[in-house]
Amino acid sequence: MTTQQTLNKYQQYVIGNYTRFPVVLVRGEGSRIWDADGKCYIDFFPGWGCGLLGHCPPPIVKAVQKQMETLIHVPNSWHTEQQAEWAQMLSERSFGKAFFCNSGTEANEAAIKLVRLATPKERYKIITFHGSFHGRTMGSISATAQPKYHDGLQPLLPGFTYVPHGDINAVKDAIDHETAAIMIEPIQGEGGVRMPPSGFLKELRNLCDTNDLILIFDEVQTGCGRTGEWFAYQTFGVLPDVITVAKAVSGSLPGAAMLVKENLAPALRPGMHAATYGGNPISAAAGIATIKMIEEQGLLENVRKLETLFLNEFNKLHGELEIIQDVRGKGVMIGVELSVEGERVVNGCRERGLLINCTHGNVIRLLPAMNLTVAEAQEGIDIIADVLRNL
Ligand SMILES: Cc1ncc(COP(=O)(O)O)c(C=O)c1O
Repeated sequence: MTTQQTLNKYQQYVIGNYTRFPVVLVRGEGSRIWDADGKCYIDFFPGWGCGLLGHCPPPIVKAVQKQMETLIHVPNSWHTEQQAEWAQMLSERSFGKAFFCNSGTEANEAAIKLVRLATPKERYKIITFHGSFHGRTMGSISATAQPKYHDGLQPLLPGFTYVPHGDINAVKDAIDHETAAIMIEPIQGEGGVRMPPSGFLKELRNLCDTNDLILIFDEVQTGCGRTGEWFAYQTFGVLPDVITVAKAVSGSLPGAAMLVKENLAPALRPGMHAATYGGNPISAAAGIATIKMIEEQGLLENVRKLETLFLNEFNKLHGELEIIQDVRGKGVMIGVELSVEGERVVNGCRERGLLINCTHGNVIRLLPAMNLTVAEAQEGIDIIADVLRNL
């Protein structure tokens, strides 16, 4: 099929709810991906953050192939060795007990339900932050404090209180007798790779302890090694009560989990929540292989090396180009804020063979794979620099 034939089929048969580039991707390997016309790109945004191990990582491919031949799916009325092992491996690298589902938004829905089930009936409100992004189902989109995503969807799920990101006094003021939880991305992703102000997460922890609130970290984007630790809460040294993880957690396959401290876990009592495919053997096998690959290949260390490279190079560029307003990030989660819209940069990079993302209108967001090589990183950075210099 030619590129145009594929685009025509989309036009005719696929709902146009995504803004898509006119490119058909056919094959990926590591941090390289090819389109239907044979053009090769370096991918600094593999799978919207799912491709933390790059495209088609061999240990994941092998684990999935083996699992496919053995047992594809059994629902959660049974036990499987794969789900048990995946839960143990995640818990040993974070805490508590797991509920498995399929996507980030589902993990957050589980957390929203858990809050309601674990607290007295009159306490149901969750405080979330301007610029947050928690997913697209009705609960998660109601948690997402960005009005542009609410347009036309009202009435939203009641019970969310939105406060400015980083404003601890606003959080204090928002807490009332109905408040049950605080939910935050340790680093806002879609909101523009926004770091928490120094000490902010710790202050949230203190407020939760004082007011008996549940602290939820949405680690859908920051989790699984993205920040150079297994989870961003470890990077910031603040222990939440719940984390939600997805995207990279099962090596680019659909898979997600909510991890909950032991004392809260019984609140999700039998019959109160479920996901038919949650923790299925294929996603579990991929999830187990993901953790093993990260450890066996020393990828957390590589993330820390890449962080230094990206931040150094972009900070140098910041000194050179007025158009760069700010450089920030942690691990392989990098934001470069521009004084202009980023769309032309994204398109310019794509033309030169580099895939990147722009979020919040003017923030170049890079979520490269943790096994990106230094040479590939430098090649991509040089392309971005060239595009920015020639805007
Ligand atoms: C922090 C965060 N939470 C939740 C989600 C939703 O995840 P999904 O698209 O898998 O439902 C995303 C997706 O980008 C995200 O970045």
